[in-house]
Amino acid sequence: MCLFDYHRFDQQLLHTIAYDALVWSSLHGLVVGDNSSQGSGSVPGVGLVHAPFALLPTPFPQNQWRQASELAPIFNELVDRVSLDAAFLQHALSRTKEADEFTSRLLDIHSKMLKINKKEEIRLGLHRSDYMLDEKTNSLLQIELNTIASSFAGLSNLVTELHRYILSRHGKLLGLDSKSIGANDAVNQNAEALAKAWSEYNNPRAVIMIVVQAEERNMDGQEISVIYFRAGYTPVDYPSESAEVLARTKTPLKRSLDGAREHTVVMVDLDPRVEWKARLLMEQSSAVKCPSISYHLVGTKKIQQELAKPGVLERFLENKNDIAKLRKCFAGLWSLDDSSIVTKAIQKPELFVMKPQREGGGNNIYGDDVRETLQKLLKSGSQEEAAAYILMQRIFPTISAAVLMRNGCWSKDHAISELGIFGTYLRNKDKVIINKPSGYLMRTKMSSSDEGGVASGFAVLDSLYLT
Ligand SMILES: Nc1ncnc2c1ncn2[C@@H]1O[C@H](COP(=O)(O)OP(=O)(O)O)[C@@H](O)[C@H]1O
Ligand SMILES: [Mg+2]
Repeated sequence: MCLFDYHRFDQQLLHTIAYDALVWSSLHGLVVGDNSSQGSGSVPGVGLVHAPFALLPTPFPQNQWRQASELAPIFNELVDRVSLDAAFLQHALSRTKEADEFTSRLLDIHSKMLKINKKEEIRLGLHRSDYMLDEKTNSLLQIELNTIASSFAGLSNLVTELHRYILSRHGKLLGLDSKSIGANDAVNQNAEALAKAWSEYNNPRAVIMIVVQAEERNMDGQEISVIYFRAGYTPVDYPSESAEVLARTKTPLKRSLDGAREHTVVMVDLDPRVEWKARLLMEQSSAVKCPSISYHLVGTKKIQQELAKPGVLERFLENKNDIAKLRKCFAGLWSLDDSSIVTKAIQKPELFVMKPQREGGGNNIYGDDVRETLQKLLKSGSQEEAAAYILMQRIFPTISAAVLMRNGCWSKDHAISELGIFGTYLRNKDKVIINKPSGYLMRTKMSSSDEGGVASGFAVLDSLYLT
């Protein structure tokens, strides 16, 4: 019998563990705002519910955990190098710009910064590179690299602690050892990087500002001196651009930055594009941005696909070993210009994922919809529309027996997991102050679900049981 066949445990035992886990979650702040509760997200301490989590940790090979961790500093350095190559970014995204309004706005800010020759001397990256283990080839393949709002450092850290607690209580009965759970210090590492960036900025009176979403459901935001973008990665974060959205939005973004005085000001403004103006103002300011507009652009799916083309990594990195390590984790990535791949994807859509230039979950296209969308694009003959997407090899991870906890209830499900490795990077001019892996996020979802976000409701938080 497999040690990790969690479905073999009887109802009573699972019930007891679930009860313990729920008590632990409430006591240790493993909670998020509860959408269904009034006042949640606006009144602190009101309407909280435990974050969705896997009741027991998911097995993961130690070797591949190490491999993923070793990639973090290389990706950090790559992001920094690519961010400095403005011509590469502008060129690689030039066609996406025509097709996608959101990317176009980001590129406009990037162009404006080039025009005024804006230099970011202190550069802070809090990234997260996501991977799945492809079952057939047993290889670690990258899903995407996040350079903005790389979320869940705090909660994922707590889930690791929760699983340790559960195994220290019930481990003997389950045949599992709490010491085998992968260490996770993500939240402290992120905080340390923010604090060090603040310290490099070298003005004790300056604060760190966190840009959050309206009715924020994460409960761990604190205003502090560097600008950290918890929001700003999706069009919804810029609501006043659309009159229709504006009509529905009670509170348009109320924050802006007065760059000259280095503090936040409250501003209620119905000016269309007020959020884009705020974003521009922040980019123009001398604050350290996490991320800068260039770092943000490097994290787009189009750039991921461009970097996977033969010879492109060599443009940014010298170390052949590092290049080989990165390339090994690249899945197949293509633009829709590649007609042979488009034909293949129409024939076998189940082997591909089609991705628009969006972040935050729920945007990708799978299965028969891939075929339909590609056929429609071919029919319309619009090169422009096609440039809004990339195609990616679909990765099929091993399916495991999981117990998923949502809203106080548990269910036995067949699940697959995605491992995110956080990477922190800080440099001031030529001096690299931090460049290291900094904890992980394990997400587990029902194997029947295509998408994977926790906030978007598809996945639950999990930890690693190293094998
Ligand atoms: N190539 C792939 N193979 C299998 N699943 C994928 C692939 N790419 C994405 N996914 C699934 O879709 C989810 C969202 O895709 P992702 O590229 O991470 O976009 P987002 O920016 O929305 O997070 C992932 O968390 C993963 O579960
Ligand atoms: Mg993702």
